[in-house]
Amino acid sequence: MAAAPPPSQPVPAPAAAGFRLGFIGPGNLAESIARGVVASGVLPAAAIRTAPHRRPERAAAFASIGAHIMETNAQVVDESDVIVISVKPQIVREVLVELKPLLSEEKLLVSIAAGIKMEDLQGWSGHRRIIRVMPNTPSAVGQAASVMCLGDMATDNDENRVRSLFSAIGKVWTAEEKYFDAVTGLSGSGPAYIFLAIEAMADGGVAAGLPRDLALGLASQTVLGAATMVNQTGKHPGQLKDMVTSPAGTTITGIQELEKGAFRGTLINAVVAATKRCRELSQS
Ligand SMILES: NC(=O)c1ccc[n+]([C@@H]2O[C@H](COP(=O)([O-])OP(=O)(O)OC[C@H]3O[C@@H](n4cnc5c(N)ncnc54)[C@H](OP(=O)(O)O)[C@@H]3O)[C@@H](O)[C@H]2O)c1
Repeated sequence: MAAAPPPSQPVPAPAAAGFRLGFIGPGNLAESIARGVVASGVLPAAAIRTAPHRRPERAAAFASIGAHIMETNAQVVDESDVIVISVKPQIVREVLVELKPLLSEEKLLVSIAAGIKMEDLQGWSGHRRIIRVMPNTPSAVGQAASVMCLGDMATDNDENRVRSLFSAIGKVWTAEEKYFDAVTGLSGSGPAYIFLAIEAMADGGVAAGLPRDLALGLASQTVLGAATMVNQTGKHPGQLKDMVTSPAGTTITGIQELEKGAFRGTLINAVVAATKRCRELSQS
């Protein structure tokens, strides 16, 4: 029997059986998902549909993938098995109330709207077959960290379908909704923490005499390489750190400076503070 994947690794996506995928809101994230799904062969472009809202260039972006462009949100729902709600969070209520009469039991609703809770999605849509997903901005480059939670009427097959969609733009985990504020504080806000770290490491390189371009390239590739080592080796990051810190060497000297500046404590506090802010915003 194959060994179970370690807990830090998401469950691999099973092959998705064919279904029709509709996007309500042809925005940036919807486009990333559509492109990823087609590029990875999860669905053919002809299985994807959306309707333009105000900006015609958004429909053009979907047309360039080969997706069907319909006239109204209602047509998209009518001709889709899985409907992704990909409008901004403040528009979700209005859209779901409008679509409520069209959501028959066999349709699966998927919300990617940040901060909109399952309870509200169910209340506004009158539908219970829902999966809520929290992706993050690296979805634009196929490296999203996405977490999904299942509504009480979502089936195992629904979970597999959504896993296949979000595996096309990165990695995906399933977790209870009670974790979503912390997910937002970690993977939702996390890319910005790392942008700061890359910028600061590059500044350090420039301060130490490197040309700016070289410093920035080295800093970003170093972050990518370190993250890939954690993901691919399955080794604890502390173990990887121990492997590269020789006695009285350069790396432990650098780490000593980071610890003087409370590097780890500051990152821990950043995730906890962002989680708290997410909770406050969702209650206001
Ligand atoms: N981008 C990310 O990395 C990311 C990460 C996590 C979660 N999310 C969530 O994903 C959702 C979409 O984000 P985004 O960055 O892709 O935003 P976006 O590019 O602004 O996309 C929103 C789309 O919704 C359309 N729209 C507005 N009102 C509509 C309506 N009544 N009916 C149909 N379409 C309508 C907009 O069209 P017009 O512009 O033509 O009005 C636009 O194409 C948000 O809820 C956000 O919280 C995004």
